[in-house]
Amino acid sequence: MNERTNQYREYIETYLKDWYARFHHEPQSKLFESMEYSLLAGGKRLRPVFAFEFCRMCGADWKKAAPFAAAIEMIHTYSLIHDDLPSMDNDDYRRGRLTNHKVYGEAMAILAGDALLTDAFAVASTAGITDAIAVLAECAGSLGMVGGQVLDIMSEERVLTEQEVIDIQTRKTGALINAACVTGAMAGGASEAQIAAAGTFAGALGLAFQIRDDMLDVIGNAQELGKAVGVDGSKNTFVRLYGLEKCEELVQKYTEIAIDALSAFADTGYMTKLAKSLTARTV
Ligand code: IPE
Ligand code: IPE
Ligand code: MG
Ligand code: MG
Ligand code: MG
Repeated sequence: MNERTNQYREYIETYLKDWYARFHHEPQSKLFESMEYSLLAGGKRLRPVFAFEFCRMCGADWKKAAPFAAAIEMIHTYSLIHDDLPSMDNDDYRRGRLTNHKVYGEAMAILAGDALLTDAFAVASTAGITDAIAVLAECAGSLGMVGGQVLDIMSEERVLTEQEVIDIQTRKTGALINAACVTGAMAGGASEAQIAAAGTFAGALGLAFQIRDDMLDVIGNAQELGKAVGVDGSKNTFVRLYGLEKCEELVQKYTEIAIDALSAFADTGYMTKLAKSLTARTV
């Protein structure tokens, strides 16, 4: 499993690095420095791994998913830069280094996020699959990740129902995971049934992933995570709603739902193992 993960990771690292290396001579080099500071800071690259593997599980060459894998990682990185801003979560550390605004200032951090988001569509368009671009836009925008971030900040200091928390998490985190799985499948020539199954997998896995993220704010190690812990006090997390023990169960439950959806694909051993491994992740 690790061998394939490493292969996917190395490929996306090089792809992202090469995309921007071409622009280093531009006069706005400070912008590129700021973008690359966050983009090439060594995240887990989970969303690219999903995109590549869904493409492969459709029987295609996994590299066909690269434009989407890269675009989603760029959008994800922009979402983290903005999420960390003082007006949002006000965090000082991310991916093991100072947050973007701590190094480059708020104006540059906002603009680096704007540029990563916009450039992502230039990268994705190189695949020439219009339907997949539409999926990417919907998952990233007002109906997807941004919509979820808005619900997240609007719900602080208020006790929510389980459904309300699910509504937040499926948008703020689930939507980009959905984009990764669905566009990866589309790049691999997925059938309608497989595209639907990729969405079902991502919906459940996204919930499990964010519940685990909320648990790690309590039980995780800041050094290992590369970001501060114990900072979600005012947030409406599943941990706040149900406590850690019930959250463990929910992570297992949603992961099983995700794995069941893989029956629409061939050769699912790797993805099954990967999904299971995420239930106990410490980073
Ligand atoms: C962190 O995402 C933010 C959430 C959506 C929970 P990741 O845990 O995938 O962060 P990186 O990409 O590895 O830094
Ligand atoms: C972030 O959720 C979701 C995004 C869209 C960025 P969190 O605010 O919980 O992510 P971390 O814990 O800062 O990585
Ligand atoms: Mg947040
Ligand atoms: Mg945050
Ligand atoms: Mg968090």
